Amino acid sequence: MEFKKNLLFIGAGYVGGPSAAMMAYKCPQYRVVVVDINQERIAQWNSDKLPIYEPGLYEIVKETRGRNLFFSKDIEDNIRCAEIIFVGVNTPTKTFGEGAGMAADLQYWEKTARHIRQYAQSDKIVVEKCTLPVKTALAMEEIFNSSNGDIRFDVLSNPEFLAEGTAIKDLENPDRVLIGSRQTASGLRAREVLVEIYENWVPRERIITSDIWSSELSKLVANAFLAQRVSSINSISAFCEAAGADVSEVARAVGLDSRIGNKFLNAGVGFGGSCFQKDILNLVYLCRCYGLYEVADYWEGVVKINEYQKERFVLNMLRTMFNTLVGKKICMMGFAFKANTSDTRESPAIYVAKRLLEEMAELIITDPEALRSAEADMKEIGGNIRFVDDPYEAVQGCHAVCVMTEWELYSLLDYERIYKSMDKPAMIYDGRNILDHQKLFDIGFNVFPIGKPALRRER
Ligand SMILES: NC(=O)c1ccc[n+]([C@@H]2O[C@H](COP(=O)([O-])OP(=O)(O)OC[C@H]3O[C@@H](n4cnc5c(N)ncnc54)[C@H](O)[C@@H]3O)[C@@H](O)[C@H]2O)c1
Repeated sequence: MEFKKNLLFIGAGYVGGPSAAMMAYKCPQYRVVVVDINQERIAQWNSDKLPIYEPGLYEIVKETRGRNLFFSKDIEDNIRCAEIIFVGVNTPTKTFGEGAGMAADLQYWEKTARHIRQYAQSDKIVVEKCTLPVKTALAMEEIFNSSNGDIRFDVLSNPEFLAEGTAIKDLENPDRVLIGSRQTASGLRAREVLVEIYENWVPRERIITSDIWSSELSKLVANAFLAQRVSSINSISAFCEAAGADVSEVARAVGLDSRIGNKFLNAGVGFGGSCFQKDILNLVYLCRCYGLYEVADYWEGVVKINEYQKERFVLNMLRTMFNTLVGKKICMMGFAFKANTSDTRESPAIYVAKRLLEEMAELIITDPEALRSAEADMKEIGGNIRFVDDPYEAVQGCHAVCVMTEWELYSLLDYERIYKSMDKPAMIYDGRNILDHQKLFDIGFNVFPIGKPALRRER
């Protein structure tokens, strides 16, 4: 079949894979190819066990794979064939040299830019889908234009706003699609090409355009604002515990104010995921580079509160379990950084697990989708850890359960049965406030929610 356009996604991760699949699904007239330097990942995308878990993803991939969606190991040839190239490679926090622990590590992004320049034989529109520091598009253009040929490259910024766990829904029905371009004739033409692609399924009024730097910055700012809400309510959860108030009541009253809204107001053990912390730290780093120290300190506070919240959770466990965790068996329910994903990157569970092991507890980790990732995360740390699929088996003989991920499954378990199989006094630390605390208390548990009075038997 003759396809109307050849689109290429470089980077077959949480963004590249689902975004390409949705584009192929909505636009059967285009050929969509996904490549990655990680050959194993490509093989997994071509198998029945996809490398990532996202509700609805498998169904879309199954329908489109081999029709107009292809996962390929051949980067070179696919760069040659594509008219439009979406770049969705990882941009983690730098761990070395200048800006270590703050700035974005741009090595993967730059390698991709160099590959594109090396293999391109015709004009390309290159679309930044990764989250990048402001003015990275300029650097990309510089790399492209450093070749001698007369190939034209137009760089667009099209940051991805999907949230893991709801990626398919977000891609199918996005709040907005943002496209940043140069305001030149050629930049605006390239922008129209991308607008036309999205118009296949996104209403035109939700496709917004801007200059390229504002577009790059918008993604960092969106993540900073979301994380700031989490840290704001988490800071109040500490206050509620000290003052005997209930953070859910406060969040409800505050969230009903239409100027504030009720989203992202659930107190918990802290935010995780590959993006929030890295993007805020990047914003902080950029602010300092521009000499905006007060602004940098303000945003850094969001990350500091998140650290504080995770540590507070651990210290609460320690104090309420009689100041020693040595040899105590603790079941961690959930390891993914949020429900409905297999992703454990920067999950608060990693921090909590490390700290509990430092206190010489024994850990039993369970998660419906992220257990293999949890094993990989904990491999280097070592310690007394078991990974168990079945939550009922995981809690056997435990002194405590801590809920780390808001999987619906955990609110539906038979807690009478769980209580019977645990060591007494049995403790539950609900790091996501998803359980029925009064019911658990009536069963016999001592219950420790976040930002609410603990339900504890008199001693
Ligand atoms: N995960 C999210 O929810 C999310 C949401 C919005 C934006 N983002 C941004 O999107 C980008 C990608 O994130 P992700 O979560 O998909 O990362 P990821 O780590 O899941 O995937 C990135 C992929 O790029 C591949 N890659 C690296 N260098 C390459 C190269 N030179 N050529 C080909 N492939 C290469 C890696 O092997 C990996 O498979 C990041 O900038 C991130 O900040 C992520």
